[in-house]
Amino acid sequence: MERITTIAALRDRVAAARAAGATIGFVPTMGALHDGHLALVRLAATLSEVVVVSVFVNPSQFDRPDDLAAYPRDLDGDETALASLGLRVPVVVFAPSVEEMYPRAPLTTVSVATLGEHLCGASRPGHFEGVATVVTKLLSIVAPDLAVFGRKDRQQLQVVRRLVADLELPVEIVAGPTQREDDGLARSSRNRRLDAEDRIAAAALSRALRASVLAAERARDEGREVLPREVRAAAAAVLADVPLVVDYVEVVDAATMQPTSAPVSETTPAVVAVAGEVGGVRLIDNVELGDPEDEARLLSATS
Ligand code: PAF
Repeated sequence: MERITTIAALRDRVAAARAAGATIGFVPTMGALHDGHLALVRLAATLSEVVVVSVFVNPSQFDRPDDLAAYPRDLDGDETALASLGLRVPVVVFAPSVEEMYPRAPLTTVSVATLGEHLCGASRPGHFEGVATVVTKLLSIVAPDLAVFGRKDRQQLQVVRRLVADLELPVEIVAGPTQREDDGLARSSRNRRLDAEDRIAAAALSRALRASVLAAERARDEGREVLPREVRAAAAAVLADVPLVVDYVEVVDAATMQPTSAPVSETTPAVVAVAGEVGGVRLIDNVELGDPEDEARLLSATS
């Protein structure tokens, strides 16, 4: 596996690939790669001829030092996992140090105003500014044709889509479906910090989303509008008796990520987003109502 740790060397590698006519796909990660990340890398490999995977635990997006310190790091394991994919395109791992990425305290940051203020932005102050800043910086360094982001971090995906549009960055943003464990739990690097009991509680998050999809289906079958308060209540009821500290259960407009009361449809999709803490581990999940594919994927991966 090819590992590059400096910005200059990564730029040279990408320039050489471009000179040879290759298109560049990019998957930004914070490492501790799991099957969810690997699916994003596979997707990038079907869409481009060289894939850059960044592995950088970005300090500026952590609001709690203990969370940053506990974040799993395993670069050798990450490279082994990427090599095991046996992709037909070269994969370049970009693993810069904190000093390489932030040689000085930055005076310039990127903030995507309202998109980053609600949901996780409300409980993790500064988180999305940290994400938007590092993603802008990584996109500037890698200069890919396309970048793949997971739908599991739906608010992050929307922040990235918007910053790319507002700053006219020449990159296509591709959304990769959420990958799930057998019990429906969305795959996350944080899952490895859950013990067996925590896992049972954590799986309630995806069951709550399932309940909201079923409530939406029921409303459609009965010829009624799909109302955000109804689908939210269905999700909240599942979480009511679970040993999990709920941070939020919200239904937000899929574009603005602001709470909505507008009936949900394919033209006005809404995201049911849930977040909670189990055994000190913060977990998030979501489903996009009004997006038939996302609804179907969630139903088939949960019970
Ligand atoms: O989703 C992540 O792992 C991170 O937020 C990202 C996009 C790599 C930025 O640090």
